[in-house]
Parts: sequence; C-alpha cells; structure tokens
Amino acid sequence: MKEKIFNAKCTCRNCPAADFGGKSEKDQGGSEARVMVECRRRPELGFFDPTNVTFEKCSEWISTPYGYFLKDMRVMILGIDGYLGWTLALWLGKLGCKVSGVDNYNRRNWVKERGAHTVVPISRMTERLHAAKEVLGIHINFREIDILNKSSLKEFIDEIKPEAIVHYAECPSAPYSMIDFEHASLVQTNNVIGTLGVLFSMHEVVPETSLIKLGTMGEYGTPLSGRPLFEGFFPEDAVLHWKNRKWSMGGELTPRYPASFYHITKVQDTINVHQSCRYWQLRSYDVMQGVIYGVHTEQVAADPRLRTRLDIDEWFGTVVNRYVAQAIIGFPLTIFGGGGQTRGFISLEDAMQCITRLIAKPPAPGEYGVINQMSGYYNVKQLAETVAKIGSEEFDFDVKIQRVENPRIEANRHTFEPIFDKLPDEFGFIQSNTLENEIRRMFKLLSQPHIKSRIEEKRHLIMPRTWWSGVKKEVKRIEMLNNSIRETVAKQ
Ligand SMILES: NC(=O)c1ccc[n+]([C@@H]2O[C@H](COP(=O)([O-])OP(=O)(O)OC[C@H]3O[C@@H](n4cnc5c(N)ncnc54)[C@H](O)[C@@H]3O)[C@@H](O)[C@H]2O)c1
Repeated sequence: MKEKIFNAKCTCRNCPAADFGGKSEKDQGGSEARVMVECRRRPELGFFDPTNVTFEKCSEWISTPYGYFLKDMRVMILGIDGYLGWTLALWLGKLGCKVSGVDNYNRRNWVKERGAHTVVPISRMTERLHAAKEVLGIHINFREIDILNKSSLKEFIDEIKPEAIVHYAECPSAPYSMIDFEHASLVQTNNVIGTLGVLFSMHEVVPETSLIKLGTMGEYGTPLSGRPLFEGFFPEDAVLHWKNRKWSMGGELTPRYPASFYHITKVQDTINVHQSCRYWQLRSYDVMQGVIYGVHTEQVAADPRLRTRLDIDEWFGTVVNRYVAQAIIGFPLTIFGGGGQTRGFISLEDAMQCITRLIAKPPAPGEYGVINQMSGYYNVKQLAETVAKIGSEEFDFDVKIQRVENPRIEANRHTFEPIFDKLPDEFGFIQSNTLENEIRRMFKLLSQPHIKSRIEEKRHLIMPRTWWSGVKKEVKRIEMLNNSIRETVAKQ
C-alpha cells in the first residue's frame, strides 16, 4: 500500500501560489462561503475553487523526502548568516528551492564584543556564497539588510516575492539581554520591532506567504502549576474551575513564564504574530524551538568554507556544544547550581528537517499554529554525564564535571512535561539522529587540532560572569563531582 504523505491532501488554501485577491472566507460571510482563486504559477486555469486541487494532484507540488514541495519554491531566510540560517540556506538550496536571505552581521559583531570567536571557523559571506555555488551548485540571493530598516526589508521582499519566509533574525542570547539596560533594550528593540517590520512588510506586499517564525521553548518557562507545556494553546478539554464555576480553556493561548529579557521578546513576538494573523489573515507557524546541539549536516560538512558557526562563550554558547568543547580542552563541565534544570533539545540536522516540513505544509489564510520543536528533554546533569561518558570512554579524554554557582534565576528542580506531538503527527517528522550520535560527531570535529586550538584560545570566556542580578563577577566552583556522585547522577 502506498504510504500516505503528510501534506498530500492539502489544497490551494494552503498554497502560497494561490491568489485570493486579498479576500478571505470571512469577507464572504463565514467559513462556509467559498472564495475563488487564481494560481500565480498556472494563470491558464483562470478562477477556480481552491478546495478542489490537492498537493498530490497539482503539477507544481513535487514529491521529496519531506513531503510534497512547491517546485523551485522561493524561500527567504531572515538571519541567513547565523548558525541555523546558513545551515538552512544550504539544505533548502540542495532541495531545489530558490533561496534568498538577509543579514546585517549582528551576530558576528556581538560575539566579537565579548572578545570571542566561533570555534568552527566560518567564511565571510562573499566566500560562503561563492563556495555554495562552486561546491553544491546553489545560487543564494543575499542582501545585507538590517531588518529594523523596514523600507529596505519590504523592498527586498517585494522584489523576491518569497513563497515562504523563515525568520531567524533575532538576538538569541539570554545572558546578552541580561548584561545591563543598554543590552536589554538593544535585544528587545532588535527582536520585537524587527519582527513587527516583518509582519507589516508581509501584510503590505506578500500576505499569502507563509511565515515560519522562530520562538523558543523558553517562552513557556517552567509554569508554577507544573502543568504540561502544551503547543501554544490549551487543548479543547482543558477546564478552569473557580468559585464553583467552570470555563472551557480550549483554544486560549497558554500563559508564558519567560526566563530572561530575551525570552520576553519571544513572548511579545508571539502576541504580535498571533494577532497579525487575526487582523490581516497572515499565515504563520510560531516555532517553540528547543535548544539546538551539533554542527553537522551533509551540506555544511561538504567544504570548510561552508561550515556554520559554533560558539562556546558564556553569552552565545549553548549547553551541549559548550560541554563537548570543554571536554576536549580538559575544562571541567560546568553544571549551574543543582543541575536539575530540564529543557527540550533537538539536533541541528533534525531542526532543519522540521523547518523543511513546516514549509511544505503552509498554514491556511489567517492560521496561526504553534509548534513545539524538540526531539527529547534532559536535565543539565544528564547532559554533562552523557558528554563525559562518551568523551572518556570513546575518545579517551579525561572529562571532569564541576558544579558552579548559578548566575540565572531559575528553578533547580521542577516538573517538565512538554507536549511535542504536532511535528511527528501532522508533519511526518522522524528523529534522524540521537543526542549521543551528535555528541560523537562533535567530538570528532572539535578535536581537530585547528579547532581545538581555537577553543583553547577562548577558554577564559567559558565561565559565566553575567548574573541575572546585574552583578559582574565570575561564578565560583561549588564542588567537583567525583566518580561515585557521577554514577549516582547517571542512574537518576
Ligand atoms: N540556537 C538555538 O539553540 C536556538 C534555540 C531556540 C530558538 N532559537 C532561535 O532561532 C533563531 C536563530 O538562532 P541562531 O542560533 O541561528 O542565532 P544566530 O545569532 O546565529 O542567527 C541569527 C542571525 O540573525 C541576524 N540578525 C540579528 N538581528 C538582525 C537584524 N536586525 N537584521 C538582520 N539580521 C539580523 C544575525 O546576524 C544572525 O546571523 C533565533 O531567533 C533564536 O532565538 C535558537
């Protein structure tokens, strides 16, 4: 029996090539009414009912390993020079998309501000673009734009008329947003106003384009009630009881409990994107992304000039990536506080797969979907133990673990019950890579002498000195964990 492809039954209502002429079902008096559309790619069809043509029947949608995909789909990546943006550009280019993108090199400058560098060397954009063409045969249309410059952004969007926009162009660092007022305000302006400009630009020139907006699982934080982290909204059967009265909570956005001024920007974005879909019939998936680990995809590994960045400093390094780098230079892995802090995670490669699948099944007009994008969850102790075990047993490094003061305000112990069903159930996502395998890949790459020496050079930037309280002092070690404690932790 032929396997059912997850987006086979989607219709022109989901397709960005369908021209609704600015009308929506609501304009016509409710969801029962039908709006006729034209196809921008196949004008010879004239006006037709958008619910009649499915992706599997349409000649513009072709079969790929990630479902049906719009032929030569125009995808614009905002933040294309970043860790994820560059990786996605090559991934989608290889899949046959026409990739364009913007960046203003904020991330390169922020890392420089700390005196740090990406430990995996990356090329300048001109060299990246040249190598993408030479090695992978991919042409990427890049424009240097600050997305806060709304008129330049809108002009480029209008010129390209992307059929999907993936919005990564924000400052991704919680510690950076907690340094002082100037940094908090920079992050909030950059992220919130930048996204507002994206929304207005889309409303003005490409309302039928789908927006894949990157949020974070950190928007939910760790709710005081210990309730599950639903995918954005309360489920239909959720009920609020109060003073002998009851309300159905189904369909309401769940409260958020963000962990830093950075995470607050993502919550503000959530409201702005949600309401823009309501006010203007924009279409968006808001992706609550888990913490990414790893540095491998087939495309970035194809040539040293195509590599994506990997940071390990206290501002921009993320936990698994930092731990592997620390293990390689004999820097004891740093567990903040108790180490019971639990978060969602996903590998770089699987994150690319997820975004690709979201692009392949665009939301319908006015649809705002929230997707929890993660493949597993771990506490910090478990991560340190896993890296230490693989590093010492398989790569012969002497890996030690230390507990240090926690500069953040966060619960050391808490319940953590994320719901992450939509990607596998509705978008066909299958995890391709385990945490352990990705850690092995990282050990192999980061222990190469030229990378190891770049880690060594910045070892003084590993210990945090940015406290949520505003204090600036290096955190102190609480204790080294000896082997027996490590074994106990591993069994927990
Ligand atoms: N990496 C993770 O673990 C992770 C986890 C959850 C969510 N996210 C989110 O995913 C997105 C991408 O993350 P990343 O790790 O690739 O970060 P990144 O910093 O490497 O990429 C963001 C890119 O956007 C660019 N940018 C920032 N502000 C801009 C502006 N005003 N105009 C133009 N370009 C601008 C930066 O220069 C950078 O190249 C971010 O929104 C981040 O918050 C990342």
